Amino acid sequence: MGYRPLSIAVLAFASLVCLAIAQTAKPTADKWEAPADAAAKPNPEAKNPDAPAVGRKLYMRTCVGCHEEDGSGKDTGAANLRSPEVQAQSDGALFWKVSNGNTAAGMPSFASLPETDRWDVVTFLRTLKDASGTGAEGSGEGKKDSPQGHKSKGH
Ligand code: HEC
Repeated sequence: MGYRPLSIAVLAFASLVCLAIAQTAKPTADKWEAPADAAAKPNPEAKNPDAPAVGRKLYMRTCVGCHEEDGSGKDTGAANLRSPEVQAQSDGALFWKVSNGNTAAGMPSFASLPETDRWDVVTFLRTLKDASGTGAEGSGEGKKDSPQGHKSKGH
C-alpha cells in the first residue's frame, strides 16, 4: 500500500495544473494595454473635418471583415469597438493598438498603414459610439443632433 500517498500527491498536483490552465484560459488574464506614453499621444487628426470620412473608408476596406460594419464584432467575435471599454481609451491608446496589433489574439498589426491613416481610422472609431442603434448603454448622451462630435476638444 506504499503507493497510495504518492498517487494522492500526483492527483493533487494534476488538479493544480488543471486549475492553472483554467486560470490562464480566462480572457481577462492578460491585459492588452498601451504604454502610458503612447496612450498620452494626442490625435493630430482630431480637428481634421475629413478624418472620420477618410477613416471610415479605410475601416470599410481593412477592418470591417473582423469588426463588422457597426464595429460590434458580434458575429465574428472580434472586439466590440463600440463598447465603453474601448471608447474609454484615449485616441493614443487605440492608435497604439491598431499600430501594434495583438496577433496572438487575432488582431493584426497595421503599422504598414501610413500614420495619418491610422489616426483617421481611430477618429472614425469615435463615431461608432454615437451610432449606437440600441441606445441601451445609458451613457446619457445617446440622442445628440450634432453631426460633428469633435468640437468640444480644446477650443
Ligand atoms: C483579422 C481580424 C481583424 C482585423 C482585420 C482587424 N481587427 Fe481589430 N481586433 C481583432 C481582434 C480579434 C481583436 C481583439 C484582440 C484582443 O482582445 O486582444 C481586435 C481588437 C481591436 C482593438 C482593441 C479593442 C480593445 O479591446 O481595446 C481595436 C482598437 C481594433 N481592433 C481596431 C481595428 C482597426 C481600426 C482595424 C482596421 C485597421 C482592425 N481592428 C482590423 C481582429 C481584427
